[in-house]
Amino acid sequence: MPRVNRTAVLSLLIVSSSVFLLFQLYYYRKYVSKPGPHILSRTGHLTATDLQWQTVRTFLLLAQRFGLPLFLADTAALTLLSHEAVRQRDRLVLESHCTFLCTGRPVVSFALFASAWKLEPAFLLVAEQKGFELLELRGDDPRLGSLDTLSGEQIPLHFLFRLHGYIIQVVFLYERSGNYLWNGPLRLKSNVDRNFAPFKLLDYGRHAGAYNRPELVLTVLDGLDIRVPRNISHFLSEQQHAHFLECHYREARNFLQLYPEDVSQAAVDFRRKAKSLLHLAARTLALLDVPFWLSSGTCLGWFRQCSIISYSRDVDIGIFIADFRPDIVAAFRDAGLLLKHKFGKVEDSLELSFLSDDIKLDIFFFYEDGDIVWNGGTQAKSGRKFKYIFPRFSLCWAELLELKVRVPCETLDYVTANYGTTWSVPVMSWDWKSSPSNVQENGVWPPEEWAELIQVY
Ligand SMILES: *[C@@H]1O[C@H](CO)[C@@H](O)[C@H](O)[C@H]1NC(C)=O
Repeated sequence: MPRVNRTAVLSLLIVSSSVFLLFQLYYYRKYVSKPGPHILSRTGHLTATDLQWQTVRTFLLLAQRFGLPLFLADTAALTLLSHEAVRQRDRLVLESHCTFLCTGRPVVSFALFASAWKLEPAFLLVAEQKGFELLELRGDDPRLGSLDTLSGEQIPLHFLFRLHGYIIQVVFLYERSGNYLWNGPLRLKSNVDRNFAPFKLLDYGRHAGAYNRPELVLTVLDGLDIRVPRNISHFLSEQQHAHFLECHYREARNFLQLYPEDVSQAAVDFRRKAKSLLHLAARTLALLDVPFWLSSGTCLGWFRQCSIISYSRDVDIGIFIADFRPDIVAAFRDAGLLLKHKFGKVEDSLELSFLSDDIKLDIFFFYEDGDIVWNGGTQAKSGRKFKYIFPRFSLCWAELLELKVRVPCETLDYVTANYGTTWSVPVMSWDWKSSPSNVQENGVWPPEEWAELIQVY
């Protein structure tokens, strides 16, 4: 064989192997090197989990770059994390598989403190460049709801980012005047693509929610830096009971047009004192971890006019008897309230009444019985018993007098049970033994038990 041919073959070999090497380099850079751990399965294809992990990672890096204080609010991921944390706290830091963020749902939800949301256009632009599609859901600002004129400006409530078929939900949390965080409901406008996301699977947005500001910790989950609530089980239980009802400001304004607010000095004083009494009751019961809700006239005041009924002369709250604690009386005494009367007993018709300044705080204990709930009343001088019957209800958050308080979610049913269908008409002369629509006679306490069951101070 001639020499020339051998040189030619050698050159050809060198060139072709260089080309192959370059191709390998290119392939490696493009498909393999970028994503982190476990990005290629054994067959060389991206698995669904890899794609979801990548989506979350891309999003989190972006959020980090813009300094957005996001925290993980996904109930499925947090549930996994809380179980895992109990089992093996130390392993979390080393974890690099997608075991927490890939929950089997095509959604991961994060919450964002809305006060930190400033770089909107730049952030959204870069997100788009990274391939994210965005669905922005905006709504009225409820913090302006009590004013007559709603500004046309709508605030962001939820952002849904979509990449590779995976959804990142960002829930905006707004600071409300009662020192709590609020998220808005997710309402789809008619022109919105209903297939954009599996809306039924979203953790947030079925209704508005109220939260205490959670303490956050930075951790590493699936190899990603993520903030999570420090007390995850606490956050999850808050999330489960976060349902928030906005007061009906428009109806309240209409009501006040018909029945203008009493602006006499006495009424103004009463509203001020009632507000501080309600705040004090909330603080005291929070220390004991006893949930309560607005009842009777105080509930009607919130529902009908978003405030206190100035001629009602007292503040009424309800507590389920299951949440009764014997140290309630001592706690209120320590808070500076005087026990005015104690009627009934834990097993039957318990009712406590405290005095602060010249305002009464009435605490009615509620008993569950089949599909009804009732509380009792006692007439001190005759020992007669009364029973007030309500349809079963669950509890929601609401705001009254700059306080986050619970009200029955089925507020209309509750108010109607108590005040009848004419609840929207003020009644100045009210007899608690005969006026309520839901009052029933319930016998008489045996005289030998009066000393114990009818205590008036
Ligand atoms: C976390 O929250 C739960 C439920 O609210 C509570 O019982 C627990 O004491 C909290 N743990 C810590 C460490 O604060």
